[in-house]
Amino acid sequence: MDPAQRDATFANDALKKAKPDYKVLIEIACTRTSEEDVASKTNGDFRKLLVAIISTYRYDGDEFDEGVAHSEANILHQAIENKVFSHDEIIRILSTRSKKQLNVTFNAFRNIYGTTITKVLLANPIDGEYLGSLRTAIRCIKYPQRYFAKHACTDLRDDIRYGDSGIYKALMFGNPSVIVTTPETCKKVLTDDDNFTPGWPISTIELIGKKSFIAMSYEEHKRLRRLTSSSINGMESLSLYLTYIEENVISSLEKWSNMGEIEFLTHIRKLTFKIIMHIFLSSESEHVMEALEREYTTLNYGVRAMRINVPGFAYHKAFKARKNLVNIFQSIVDERKKLRNGYIPKKSKDMMDALIDVEDENGRKLDDEEIIDIMLMYLNAGHESSGHITMWATYFLQKHPQYHQKAKEEQEEIIRKRPSTQKGLTLKEIRQMDFLYKVIDETMRVITFSLVVFREAKFDVNINGYTIPKGWKALVWFRSVHLNPKIYPNPKEFNPHRWDKEHKAGEFLPFGAGTRLCPGNDLAKMEIAVFLHHFLLNYQLEQINPNCPVRYLPHTRPIDNCLGRVKKCSSTSM
Ligand code: HEM
Repeated sequence: MDPAQRDATFANDALKKAKPDYKVLIEIACTRTSEEDVASKTNGDFRKLLVAIISTYRYDGDEFDEGVAHSEANILHQAIENKVFSHDEIIRILSTRSKKQLNVTFNAFRNIYGTTITKVLLANPIDGEYLGSLRTAIRCIKYPQRYFAKHACTDLRDDIRYGDSGIYKALMFGNPSVIVTTPETCKKVLTDDDNFTPGWPISTIELIGKKSFIAMSYEEHKRLRRLTSSSINGMESLSLYLTYIEENVISSLEKWSNMGEIEFLTHIRKLTFKIIMHIFLSSESEHVMEALEREYTTLNYGVRAMRINVPGFAYHKAFKARKNLVNIFQSIVDERKKLRNGYIPKKSKDMMDALIDVEDENGRKLDDEEIIDIMLMYLNAGHESSGHITMWATYFLQKHPQYHQKAKEEQEEIIRKRPSTQKGLTLKEIRQMDFLYKVIDETMRVITFSLVVFREAKFDVNINGYTIPKGWKALVWFRSVHLNPKIYPNPKEFNPHRWDKEHKAGEFLPFGAGTRLCPGNDLAKMEIAVFLHHFLLNYQLEQINPNCPVRYLPHTRPIDNCLGRVKKCSSTSM
């Protein structure tokens, strides 16, 4: 069955039930378009809401209007006060306003009325299924990721027939899927290459590349992974990049401290991008970097968006960004090939060279499309994640003075013990950053940058006594593992001391596991540690909106990108 057929089957099942399953319909509405089916099979207020959500085009950008938010918060409040939950204005606002505008409106609602719109709706007795669906739609808009996770882990439980096993059946991204949420089941899926293959949604593959790792055969992946990861694996090979990273961290922090108010996250992402460009492309051209970085930002907004290739939608913009990225990479490949003029250097200069030179056992070289998709994937994976985790680690340290103090003392101790002739950080010193590495692990646990990865069952696979049918997706849900209170008591609390004790295999999977374990894990941790070392010793972050709301997709971040000032401060030992 193709996705559309599957959607139709699921929607049909939901509609045929004596009491239609409205949550399934809302989920399908959020990811696909099936107006005619829905319009013909539903009725009343529910149809009005659902058809409007499905069929209207929303602006997808970040701009918003405070005045509109204020006035529409009042309209929503008035309609709810009058208990006219299906008021045309409610439906117009929810179905036509951008998600950004709606979130500003919900905030304005809270500021004016001292309570949230969902709480006000909850205070009303359930008015058939409609009111429940209205709340579902609002929660999906406010907290897509939180709602998605909760839905996957609790609401679906009754439906799912897999008992209390940490395995859930669901319709996700248009595919029948099984979500695995325990350390054992996650590890099993990630390490069983005989039974599982990558199973990313088609939209992700189209944007990251049909010839990148996420869509590659097992053998080809093994060969190219070995080639590309050798230069970034293990701290010893990384020592080559340590000085470059450190110099750039120092100069960036100095620059930011003179800039006044900045989007801290945006600037860290630029820094991590510069580092990854240096390692993979030996390039520092500001011009190329700016162009690539801009396109990557747009690309990432589309990776988790609806696959609607229509102007105005995130996926459409991302698709265009991919085309621009491909063009930029193509010109770099062309230039490299022209410069060589048939000559193959003895030693590859960087990753791009290595990919141009590599041959398989039959002497076949990679074609341009393959080289470009692999580069495009690496540069993307190599800056977004480390950039976000660096920002969050800094943020958590600022929020928790006791951990900030302890981490700072550890860094001061490293400087105190350093011979006066030594200039910068050494690998040995990085290995001594015991507490700082706990801070980084704890940040990766709380934030869980990659909340889920996708696999597909090659055959009917038995896991813990349950069968995942051939062709079904298996979603490895890292977030449920990392926020499981049985493994991590009080899981949302940031507490680096959790890492004073060892955790069992599978309980901590920030970089995945198995043959697709993140090859950049050591590089990422080293980059983050170098940044925090200099930040702790010499700077502090003064956030403009310390309680700024958080957006979860495509990645967890404060909606103001951590707006603040980087200020110089003194180090006691320097
Ligand atoms: C804190 C930073 C990072 C996090 C949390 C992270 C997380 C992950 C995770 C969870 C996976 C597994 C995907 C799967 O199982 O399908 C992965 C794969 C990958 N990561 Fe990272 N990553 C980080 C940094 C990096 C860096 C710095 C690089 C590049 C230098 C990188 C390159 C890759 C690549 C190429 C893959 C695909 C591996 C494969 O399919 O064989 N990552 N990453």
